[in-house]
Amino acid sequence: MPWTRAARQAGTKLRIVDVDNDGQLRLDQFKTMLSQRTRVVAFSHVSNVLGLVNPAKEMCSLARQAGARVVIDGAQAAPHITIDVQNLDCDFYVFSGHKMLGPMGTGVVWGRQALLEAMPPYHVGSNMAHEVDFERETLEHGALKFQAGTPDVAGPVGLAAAVGFLAAAGRMRCGSMIKSWPDMGWLACAQSPDCASSAASGPSIASRSSRS
Ligand SMILES: Cc1ncc(COP(=O)(O)O)c(C=O)c1O
Repeated sequence: MPWTRAARQAGTKLRIVDVDNDGQLRLDQFKTMLSQRTRVVAFSHVSNVLGLVNPAKEMCSLARQAGARVVIDGAQAAPHITIDVQNLDCDFYVFSGHKMLGPMGTGVVWGRQALLEAMPPYHVGSNMAHEVDFERETLEHGALKFQAGTPDVAGPVGLAAAVGFLAAAGRMRCGSMIKSWPDMGWLACAQSPDCASSAASGPSIASRSSRS
């Protein structure tokens, strides 16, 4: 929904990449869709439907070669995978706090510093500017410029505690456990007369989902 609205507002066309019968994102189609006219590429790092890990690094590289900005939705990835935005080479990476065991209503938007500096604030309020008068204001730098108003202080403190907890508990361990869930899903499907045909071709997703 955010992307359909953004496309409407910007007067641009939203193009959707299909998944194949195994639920894998159609990289061949993605490549043919990319052109110098592609403004933004947005995708989920991990599918919230099948738990598949999309080939994020490769997709970032292809998108950037086409000159597009890349936004990765890591809502399902951040709790399970160690995220390295420099290595992925994305422009923005976002995730929800509550899926990381953090407080509801919290989340993270990471953006490339140069882009944050170049973007205007989308709303205004206290704390985002200094030296304000009726003629002009000097905006804060980077992310601070976008944090209008007195912030929710307790939320991010809770989120930081949750991130620390997950790091200590071993995110990778959680991740490898969760990798087996898609296979369990396919197995359940295979036993259901309603989705026997799709389950028949059901692959071992866990073994294929290690691309990242
Ligand atoms: C990939 C993905 N992005 C975004 C969301 C929505 O996140 P939120 O609950 O923080 O609005 C979900 C929810 O399941 C999700 O799976």
